[in-house]
Amino acid sequence: MATNLDADTLTSEVLKSFSETPNGRLQQILESLTTHLHAFVQDITPSIEEWEQAIDFLTRTGNTCTDVRQEFILLSDVLGVSMLLETINGQETPDATDSTVLGPFHMVESPTRDLGDDISPESDGPRCIVSGRIVSVEGTPVPNASIDIWQADTKGFYDVQQPGIQSVGNGRALLRSDAEGRFHFRSVVPMYYPIPTDGPVGELLEATKRHPYRPAHIHFLVTAPGYRELTTHIFIGGSDYIDSDAVFAVKGSLVKDFDEDQDPEAAAHYGVQSPFRHGHFDIVLHPET
Ligand code: BEZ
Ligand code: FE
Repeated sequence: MATNLDADTLTSEVLKSFSETPNGRLQQILESLTTHLHAFVQDITPSIEEWEQAIDFLTRTGNTCTDVRQEFILLSDVLGVSMLLETINGQETPDATDSTVLGPFHMVESPTRDLGDDISPESDGPRCIVSGRIVSVEGTPVPNASIDIWQADTKGFYDVQQPGIQSVGNGRALLRSDAEGRFHFRSVVPMYYPIPTDGPVGELLEATKRHPYRPAHIHFLVTAPGYRELTTHIFIGGSDYIDSDAVFAVKGSLVKDFDEDQDPEAAAHYGVQSPFRHGHFDIVLHPET
């Protein structure tokens, strides 16, 4: 290995050190990482103290992770990397429903419920209805698809954030689409909420004067044999922060108005009080390749 390296020859020496990597993809990743990381350091020319600060930040990010908290994913989210990844991968399936971030609250198994059930039985507030169809990109119904749903309540809290107040499973459901690919459930319209700010990611938001809020949304993870898994949300039209999601996850196609339905017959059909708010979301799956 060469000695007395200057800044440029050092980069090429590190690149050379990976030249025998048997796994071609790993080699490509390490070469790109080296090229970009060295260029980044050249660009910002950090002092030793600044570099130590950066190492300390990443160390504390790792130390904040537990079985039920993933601060690195949150960091990837607030830096827009999670959405960049979703967007790049979504380019392969332009006719399917847009995907968006999974988020850290899909941490427990959702309770199996029947179509039409109230998925937020412990939550205060008027009931809404969410309905839709699961279809293929050709428009054919996808029956018996598994639809995993999770959402915050009317105060912006997930069940897992309020032990002793909400039971685990409130605001969650595992549904199956019917023979025509249809689904519907009762719930409450969730509120916007802040992402966790009591760790290093919160410090980053504070230092940069960014707010931590996500607009109101309901998560969906849809799977069906022969189709690509889809992780997405519906965003409640008109919610605060719809134009400034802390994790950059809003796509226009996923914003749905929850209009008020005044029809007493529709209310009776769904088993809710009239008037009620109704959101509709058709989900298009891409075949597995
Ligand atoms: C969520 O929607 O649950 C979420 C997504 C990214 C970061 C924090 C929360
Ligand atoms: Fe969420």
